[in-house]
Amino acid sequence: MTLSPLIPSIKRCFNLDDFRRQAKHKLPSPLFHYIDGGADDEITLYNNTQAFDKYQIVPRCLQDVTRINMQTKVLGCELDWPVLMSPTGMSRFFHHQGERAVARAAAQSGTMYSLSTVATTTIEDVASATSGPKMFQLYVLRDHAINDELIERCRAANYDALCLTVDTVVQGNRERDLRTGMTVPPKPTLQSLASFALHPAWCYHYFTTPPLEMANLSHHIAEGSSQVSSLGKYINEQFDRALNWAYAEKVAARWQGPFAIKGILCVEDARRAADIGASAVIISNHGGRQLDGVPAPIDLVAEIADALGDRVEIILDGGVRRGTHVLKALAMGATACMMGRPYLYGLAAGGQAGVERVLALLKSEIERDMILSGQADSNKLGPGFIRT
Ligand code: GLV
Repeated sequence: MTLSPLIPSIKRCFNLDDFRRQAKHKLPSPLFHYIDGGADDEITLYNNTQAFDKYQIVPRCLQDVTRINMQTKVLGCELDWPVLMSPTGMSRFFHHQGERAVARAAAQSGTMYSLSTVATTTIEDVASATSGPKMFQLYVLRDHAINDELIERCRAANYDALCLTVDTVVQGNRERDLRTGMTVPPKPTLQSLASFALHPAWCYHYFTTPPLEMANLSHHIAEGSSQVSSLGKYINEQFDRALNWAYAEKVAARWQGPFAIKGILCVEDARRAADIGASAVIISNHGGRQLDGVPAPIDLVAEIADALGDRVEIILDGGVRRGTHVLKALAMGATACMMGRPYLYGLAAGGQAGVERVLALLKSEIERDMILSGQADSNKLGPGFIRT
């Protein structure tokens, strides 16, 4: 339901959690819970953010913080600040402007967008929407010819980097989706009918814009239909459970450019990623959406950074909701952070303008937190900035 006079507009969202509440108002409940939920008991989902609180910042006083530098280089791209957009599937579910809006907002804010294999906008359409830094996230399909085709399309469309996600050869157990009756494409069920009826604006855009589909794969999906009956079903049937290090090495060799492996959760795998030519490891548990009961990314940054030295860039993905979270990760050895859910809440709340505000809020939090802690350059943060 729009209920606009009762719901604060995006201008009245002052932090990322406000955007979560706003997204909850704007979306039919199966859609909101699809973004918001995690696997099993959602312990990992909860921990990803809570784990940051174990570490405290040690501010330094009497430092000249007239000029603040947050610029950094990640996967070959110069970025204005150290937070990248994680790949997330199906963005047009949450707002009709979809992936294009997020990619444009990322470029406008001076950071990198990542397009998911299961996006609702094509590789080429995102490339023509923005010339900002872009990474493509590859899920490995059993039909290896499709993987090769996706890589070549990214090369032709001038993507800057490729990221291989290794934690999703089957879909995690998302019980909220079972309870809300979430399907792909979304279909009202008896239990969700009222929720769709109460969100006429969402329904209007759903029925008046092109059908939602996995745009990069649609030409390979069932003849005569470019839609799939369920994303989970597609993942479980088509994703390659035989994915292994040898194939990851082949992907890196085929791409030949900046290459990240996403879903690393231990030192041994981070080392192996560096050995096969990865330029970055993304410490990630898929936002708590895959295997529940694994470590929070922030708890792994220091040990992976200590073991890998400067062999690879280290990107933390998971749980970032505050500027202080980003600074803690950088101090422990991360090159940059990534986030997914917060920008989807922004997208649901207000399309491109919503994502822009999410990014502007987080960026200004980082800047203010640097000033308050006496740090002028985010690249110079080190272990002395943190106390456990
Ligand atoms: C897809 O990547 C998902 O987590 O739903």
